[in-house]
Amino acid sequence: MAIVIQILAIVICFLPAPSRGFGMGPPLGACVDMWPKAHGADSQTSDPPYTITVSKDTYTPGETLTVVVNTTINKDIKFFEGLLLQARRANCSHTHFEEAVGTFNLPADETFLGLLNCQGGRNSAVGHIAHAHIVDRTFTWTAPDASVGHVYFRATVARRQTTFWTQVTSDFVRDVSESSSPSICPIQTKRSTDTTCTNSASLKEPSRCLILLVMMLWTSHF
Ligand SMILES: *[C@@H]1O[C@H](CO)[C@@H](O)[C@H](O)[C@H]1NC(C)=O
Ligand SMILES: *[C@@H]1O[C@H](CO)[C@@H](O)[C@H](O)[C@H]1NC(C)=O
Repeated sequence: MAIVIQILAIVICFLPAPSRGFGMGPPLGACVDMWPKAHGADSQTSDPPYTITVSKDTYTPGETLTVVVNTTINKDIKFFEGLLLQARRANCSHTHFEEAVGTFNLPADETFLGLLNCQGGRNSAVGHIAHAHIVDRTFTWTAPDASVGHVYFRATVARRQTTFWTQVTSDFVRDVSESSSPSICPIQTKRSTDTTCTNSASLKEPSRCLILLVMMLWTSHF
């Protein structure tokens, strides 16, 4: 009996931690830093093999534009598996430069992508909801009713679990009423080393192994 419990305890401790990251789609916790925490790797530093192309380089409030995410490499690795995409203000000194702006719409037959309500509002981000090898995707973005200045689209695109790019950006889409220069704002490119409560994976392991310890101690009394 004791040996059965001990084996069970070891199995529990070493089961893979449940993934809450980009595996089943980006969580709302990734809205601001667009960082795929559960992927456990740094962003690739090479030029991303993906493009974000927008149907126009200017917008007026409420206007709807077409957005295409496409793969540029043409080898056996020509695909992406994960995506988180938003439109953002091209003004890094703005308090809300990390906020998603505007509203996305997906084609009715879309099964790989879903919509997220990031901090900017309803349907303000696009993220994958299924596991598939995807070459390109087309959807629309509607600008906010009030002007937000120049914008650009930015995405984290994952080719595989540990191979992803956080710096995939479109060309600027200029606000016709704005005369200033747009800029691309910084984004996280490396794993953070802190292990605060926001890092769910690092908290799960100790608690599971605590169960192991308690079960071992308990069975050792027999
Ligand atoms: C993606 O790029 C390929 C190769 O250039 C092109 O054939 C394809 O039409 C593009 N997809 C979209 C949706 O524009
Ligand atoms: C950027 O945002 C700041 C703060 O809201 C604002 O004062 C400034 O005019 C904006 N600059 C541009 C270039 O839009």
